[in-house]
Amino acid sequence: MAKAKRQYVCQNCGSATYRWQGQCADCGEWNTLVEEAAETVFSAKHNLSKGGRTIPLETLNAESRMPERMLCGIAEFDRALGGGFVAGSATLIGGDPGIGKSTLLLQAAGRLAKAGRSVVYISGEEAAAQVRLRAQRLGLGDAPVALASATSVRDILATLGSRTADFVVIDSIQTMHSDLIDSAPGTVSQVRASAQELIRYAKDSGAAIVLVGHVTKDGTIAGPRVLEHMVDTVLAFEGERSHQYRILRAVKNRFGGTDEIGVFAMGEEGLGEVSNPSSLFLTDRSRDVPGSVVFPALEGTRPVLVEVQALTVRLASGATPRRAVVGWDSGRLAMVLAVLEARCGLQMGAAEVYLNIAGGYRLTDPAADLAVATALVSAFSERPVPPDAIVFGELSLSGEVRPVSHDALRLREAAKLGFSTAWGPNGMKRVNGIGVTGFARLGELVDLMLGRD
Ligand code: TYD
Ligand code: MG
Repeated sequence: MAKAKRQYVCQNCGSATYRWQGQCADCGEWNTLVEEAAETVFSAKHNLSKGGRTIPLETLNAESRMPERMLCGIAEFDRALGGGFVAGSATLIGGDPGIGKSTLLLQAAGRLAKAGRSVVYISGEEAAAQVRLRAQRLGLGDAPVALASATSVRDILATLGSRTADFVVIDSIQTMHSDLIDSAPGTVSQVRASAQELIRYAKDSGAAIVLVGHVTKDGTIAGPRVLEHMVDTVLAFEGERSHQYRILRAVKNRFGGTDEIGVFAMGEEGLGEVSNPSSLFLTDRSRDVPGSVVFPALEGTRPVLVEVQALTVRLASGATPRRAVVGWDSGRLAMVLAVLEARCGLQMGAAEVYLNIAGGYRLTDPAADLAVATALVSAFSERPVPPDAIVFGELSLSGEVRPVSHDALRLREAAKLGFSTAWGPNGMKRVNGIGVTGFARLGELVDLMLGRD
């Protein structure tokens, strides 16, 4: 038999080389090559087409039971999950350090334990005393959560195997250590091996397991990308540490949609639920200030009103203008600026442009184009937008204003919060007494703002 060759496999893209390199030649990721035994060479002797057993195939319409759901009682959390945790499933929750992952999960664990579920909380980052202190501060001191500070997956599985658990938190997967793998905790192979064992435990035992994942600078969950493929649900916990607001977003969900969000505010007593996010994001709004526009964003089926703020500074010619954007896509900003310049005759090329979405909110809704364009025009011309107006619509490169989904939902939310006008695409219907002004092209809106005919 041929000697098994060693090879180095990139844990990010899966490409293999026979020599170790610091950077994967295929995907360009650094430090992702891990030594693995090479796959058996294809030969007549090692042929997968022989020696297997036939698997029974089933039909789609056979009887099947819906998996059991477990509501943690924090409505915003349950909503983001699409109706609570699923028994026998694995959930990965990622987020920046200090954003509140441990707090949120401890609160969920406490609620579930108080509701009579068997809950185990394993912290690899904090001592049990630290977690206990936090629980007491959160008013959960009397919740029957079984707590341990541990990092050995073997020990954790032995502990879990000796009892039945409904809900298990592993905080965090990067601190876990499998003694089958000879590398430090947090390395891709360790994270993958530890996660694999913990997920298998969840599937076998029927417990819902939640893995906390660290996030790298570019916002992806540290460790192999395969971690996201291994779990059933991936949640992202977002927000700016300097702001109170936190948004829990489903990025992947095998048991539900990925378009619902949960909104929280970090306070003295941990994370509070925010059932009316619009009023929260608009509390400190600067009215009658040029560059401020209210945009009705849609998160799943849920409208959230946010403030778009723009600032432009005209530079003496020759200097290179800065472009900075927080909470929106910078490529999209460049596109809106180009459309304003090329289709509406605004000379913004030489101006510095700053764009900010208030409250640490991150906008992904394409309907924000028109709101951003309006904020830029308002800042550039130093003319405020009427304070009782909301603005939304998608822009095309030709400067057309495109219709967007669910305009009635957006209008209804705005009406509820006291807005009386909406600027948007043509063809919107009046809702709840909100006056609508439709625009076919961005140029028409710019003319209105600048008082041009
Ligand atoms: P934590 O849950 O430890 O974050 P993560 O696990 O994502 O790293 O959150 C820690 C932050 O939250 C910390 O900076 C303090 C703050 N915090 C509050 O403001 N109020 C509270 O009641 C708690 C428990 C934490
Ligand atoms: Mg933590």
